[in-house]
Amino acid sequence: MPDPFDCRSGLAPLPEVLLDRLRQADEVLVLTGAGVSAESGIATFREALTGLWARFDPAQLATAEAFQEDPARVWSWYEWRRAQVLRAEPNAAHRALADWADRQGRLRLVTQNVDDLHERAGSRDVIHLHGSLHEPRCFDCANPLAAPPPVGAEAQLLAPPTCPLCGGLARPGVVWFGESLPEAALATAWALAERCNLCLVVGTSGLVQPAASLPVVARQQGATVIRIDPQPAADFQADWQLLGAAGLILPALLERL
Ligand code: OAD
Repeated sequence: MPDPFDCRSGLAPLPEVLLDRLRQADEVLVLTGAGVSAESGIATFREALTGLWARFDPAQLATAEAFQEDPARVWSWYEWRRAQVLRAEPNAAHRALADWADRQGRLRLVTQNVDDLHERAGSRDVIHLHGSLHEPRCFDCANPLAAPPPVGAEAQLLAPPTCPLCGGLARPGVVWFGESLPEAALATAWALAERCNLCLVVGTSGLVQPAASLPVVARQQGATVIRIDPQPAADFQADWQLLGAAGLILPALLERL
């Protein structure tokens, strides 16, 4: 893999061959992670473990076992995160991806994020691999439940609402560790990886499977893979890495196309 381009203080001069791949791609898969929402002020998974939750490990909060052990603790953590998302606005990276899809036509967005900032920036048919903070359901019978009014910025302990059908407790509509990803979302994402000719990977550490395999599948079948992230990833198999904030790089790239 060539050396990463340092774009931390603006888009570095990029080779024409890279720009041509971007211009010529007619099947584009964009995989996003927490980094794409960082400039909207959304705490990443670990950063969100402050205050009431500071002494917990994410694995102690994002599991069915954790919820069963202490439903209020887990529910309140997700409600605090949902309220944070509702107060946030999409950033330049979300908007650039929505604009690019409008121009390009065959660009599909697959995200690991449980927020709705891509949609609020205008992206359509976003594939959410890890579910959504905004779609709670019953822990026992999976009946979809209405999200309660959002809480304030202060962390507080809240009992989860109950299901009107069976009396079970509401749980967040996200994928917890140890749970399967939504089947249809994963199948669509996989099919896109198998047929895209450009795969853009934005703001993800690439540590969580199976999402991390999508760019690998794309590259194996011949797609160009470009990673955008402030942190270099030595073992990530990409054709190019652009180091810097997505909100800076994506709009600048779009201007060059
Ligand atoms: P991570 O928190 O693991 O990684 C975030 C990435 O974003 C890192 O590589 C940062 O360098 C990068 N980043 C930070 N600021 C950025 C910016 N302004 N522009 C671009 N990139 C930036 O988040 P994910 O890879 O999304 O799963 O984590 C994947 C999954 O692990 C999450 O969906 C969650 C978590 O456990 C579940 O909840 C199932």
